[in-house]
Amino acid sequence: MSTRILQQIIPSMATSDGAGVRLRRSIGQSQTVRVDPFLMLDEFSSVNADDYIAGFPNHPHRGFETVTYILDGHMLHEDHLGNRGDLKSGGAQWMTAGRGIIHSEMPQQISGRMRGFQLWVNLPAKEKMKPAGYQDVQSEEIPVFNLADSGYVKVISGTANFAEQIIKGPIQGISADVLMLDVRLPAGAYFEQVLPSDHNAFIYTFEGDVLVGPEDNQCALATQSAGVLSTGDFLVIKAGEKGAAFLLLVGRPLKEPIVQYGPFVMNTREEIEQAVADYNNGRLV
Ligand code: CO
Repeated sequence: MSTRILQQIIPSMATSDGAGVRLRRSIGQSQTVRVDPFLMLDEFSSVNADDYIAGFPNHPHRGFETVTYILDGHMLHEDHLGNRGDLKSGGAQWMTAGRGIIHSEMPQQISGRMRGFQLWVNLPAKEKMKPAGYQDVQSEEIPVFNLADSGYVKVISGTANFAEQIIKGPIQGISADVLMLDVRLPAGAYFEQVLPSDHNAFIYTFEGDVLVGPEDNQCALATQSAGVLSTGDFLVIKAGEKGAAFLLLVGRPLKEPIVQYGPFVMNTREEIEQAVADYNNGRLV
């Protein structure tokens, strides 16, 4: 067994997107800060409605998939396929943009906390032009695995492999075989997970801090930071003195060239020019 260690720290940066939603971006804060197949991870968290109320009005995507996970709040997704996804606290939605989707994501609350994540996952070249798709799940459909010492793990996407039990999340079929876990640990508690050794992985701490790696090679990761992990088939993480909450994201690297222009992510410049032309001519979707 080789245990993964912390290889790179990417502190999240404050930025805004959509019609002025304030958020923190770690992966994807520039086009060189990516973890194949992951293109971007945004965290939005505010009790101030001005930070989120403008939402994400109608906009296009092509060439990748997204997972949105809401911790607190109420958001409505609508797209050109006629999907309406009412996303409430603890729920998740995943969307394959494929050849094209036009959608909006708008807050359905005018006060209170809005908190969650949006993850962008790349599609392999041969699937970038497949038909768009959308699905969502509510909180009660996401399985929870209880750890010793009162910690727990929510299995959002893929299949988690605990020593005692295999647990399948409701999101299956993301092309890059994404495992997405929401892990909550009390102070000093441990989380362990067997992982495919050739898949890339990172964690994102959204509360508290953690120590990553085996006892003889532990590295600290502060709150609201992405920690990129080395390869290896085992992961061990210890929560800091205030406990910790983090996402674990694991995926099969695509090892293909990436050319991104805003909401379009393709393999070549020509394909990006085509996407822009298709959008301008009303032929994206
Ligand atoms: Co979008």
